Amino acid sequence: MKKLKLISTGKSKSLYTTDHHSQLVMEFRNDISAFNAVKLDNLAGKGQVNNDINTYLMNFLTQQGIKTHLIERVGPQDVIVKSLKMIPLEAVVRNYAAGSLCKRYGIAQGLALQPPLFEFFLKNDALGDPILRDEHILSFGFATEQDMDEIKKTSLLINDLLVPLFKQAGFWLVDFKLEFGRDNEGKLVLADELSPDGCRIWDATTQEIFDKDRFRQDLGLVIEHYQAVAKRLGIEASASS
Ligand code: ADP
Ligand code: TMP
Repeated sequence: MKKLKLISTGKSKSLYTTDHHSQLVMEFRNDISAFNAVKLDNLAGKGQVNNDINTYLMNFLTQQGIKTHLIERVGPQDVIVKSLKMIPLEAVVRNYAAGSLCKRYGIAQGLALQPPLFEFFLKNDALGDPILRDEHILSFGFATEQDMDEIKKTSLLINDLLVPLFKQAGFWLVDFKLEFGRDNEGKLVLADELSPDGCRIWDATTQEIFDKDRFRQDLGLVIEHYQAVAKRLGIEASASS
């Protein structure tokens, strides 16, 4: 399927129209950013390994009955997805304390969170993606009570499916961010990506970091660690061309 018109260039992915009105090509670029685009770089191989991991995880979730936007991978960095009306919220699930949670509440990094913690954030870079309470979401009209319930339930179900998958590969899935949209029948669909860019993934024994925190914290060997995630999950690397 041909990429026709570029419709959006985000921080790490681009979207193109196709000759099918309800399908887009999502291109995983090699760009990487942190701290709301204050820190930027371009890392060879990132688009490809994220496409590898995202395709594998989205296909796995589809097999488990989750509706995802993924239709077909069509190139090392390209995937065809269902065009959705995006909900401007970020759904975060946490199994261990890290990142902004530790900063906000003074919780020790690595504390096991039982039950897993669900949080909504507003998808708005200019405002630094502030955390939202359900009351904000309702009063601002960002989503209905029903939407919020469905997003929370689906996110926690995805967590229940992904945690054992990562555990088998010797990882803790510390936390991750999801985005959802509605298709033209109004159904809730998992969108965007599932990759080390939007997750925290630690070695289960040593707690070594394998995700974008390597870039945020200048730990080096970012792509090598992303590729190790793919390898340990049993994902075959796509041909690079
Ligand atoms: P950002 O800079 O917003 O993080 P990205 O570089 O990740 O953006 O680009 C992806 C953009 O595409 C995001 O704005 C995301 O919400 C949007 N998106 C993801 N999946 C879909 C979809 N299926 N349909 C429409 N938009 C989508
Ligand atoms: P946080 O600790 O910064 O709140 O992030 C929690 C998880 O969600 C972490 O895996 C990174 C991911 N995340 C994104 O990918 N994009 C975002 O805009 C936010 C707020 C979080």
